[in-house]
Amino acid sequence: MDIFCREVKPYECLNMKRVQFWLRIMKEHALFMKLGFACSDKELICQAEEFYKTFEKLEKHSRNIECDEEFMTFVSKILVTVKNIFAFKRHVLHLLIECQIGGYNYPLLIDHISREAMYFLKLLQKIQDGEMKHPVDSIVSDNVFWLRHMADHARFIVGLLDPSERGFVEKANAFAVQFEQLQLQARDLDSMLWHFCPNNNLIRFEEDVKQATIQIRDFKKTARDLISSCQVISLIPPLLADHVLREAEYFLEVLEQIQRDIPNMGGKILTCDY
Ligand SMILES: [Fe+2]
Ligand SMILES: [Fe+2]
Repeated sequence: MDIFCREVKPYECLNMKRVQFWLRIMKEHALFMKLGFACSDKELICQAEEFYKTFEKLEKHSRNIECDEEFMTFVSKILVTVKNIFAFKRHVLHLLIECQIGGYNYPLLIDHISREAMYFLKLLQKIQDGEMKHPVDSIVSDNVFWLRHMADHARFIVGLLDPSERGFVEKANAFAVQFEQLQLQARDLDSMLWHFCPNNNLIRFEEDVKQATIQIRDFKKTARDLISSCQVISLIPPLLADHVLREAEYFLEVLEQIQRDIPNMGGKILTCDY
C-alpha cells in the first residue's frame, strides 16, 4: 500500500535521532525547491525560504530538548510545520502538472519529496499510537516506500548527470530497473502477507533488498565524493548527492532493524519503546 493510504505507517519508532534526520531532510527539500523555481516566481521562492528558516530553527531547538515531556510538545510543534510543507509541496506539484509555472523542478521530484513529508508526518503521529497490531503490514509498506524512493533517486541521477558520463548513466539506469523490480515484488508481498505474519519468503526478500541497498548506498557515496571533488560532470549539487546518500543509509538502518525483529515476531503484537 502507498504511504498516502490512511492505515499505512512506518515500521520504525520515533526517536530524537530520527526527528533530527527528517528535520534536516525537510530543510533541504525547501532549499532544492527554491533553487528549482523560475526567478520570476518570487512568492514561491519566499515561501520556500520561510520553510528553510523554520526547519533550521526546529533543528536548533531539537538540540535543547531534555526530557520526554519537552519531546512530546516539540513533536506537536513539528507536526504543524510538516503538514504545512506537505501542503506546499502538493500545491507546487499541482501548479507544475497544470503547466502554470516553469522552472527546473521535476514534477516527480516534488511528488517524491511530498511522499517523504507524509512519511515523516506518519512517523510523528506514530508516537500517539505506538502499538502495531500487524507489524508485517508496516514492514512491507516500508519496503514499498523506500524501494520506490531508491528507484526514483536512480532516475533523478540519470536525469541530472551529464549525458557524456555514459558509464555512470548506465549504472544509475541499472539501479532504477533493479529497484523498480524489487518494488513490484514488495507490492506482491504487501497483499500476500496482509494482516498475516512474516514468512521465509519475506526473510529472503529482506536480505535481497539489504544487499541491493548496500550497493546503491555505495554507488551514491562514490557519486557524492566524485561530485564534491568535481570529478564528475552533472547538474547534481553536492548537497543533493549527500541527501540521497543519507536516505539510503536511513533505509539500511530500517532494514537492519526489521531483520533483527522478524525472528521474534510470529503473530505477536510489537509495542514501540520510546
Ligand atoms: Fe529527500
Ligand atoms: Fe528521496
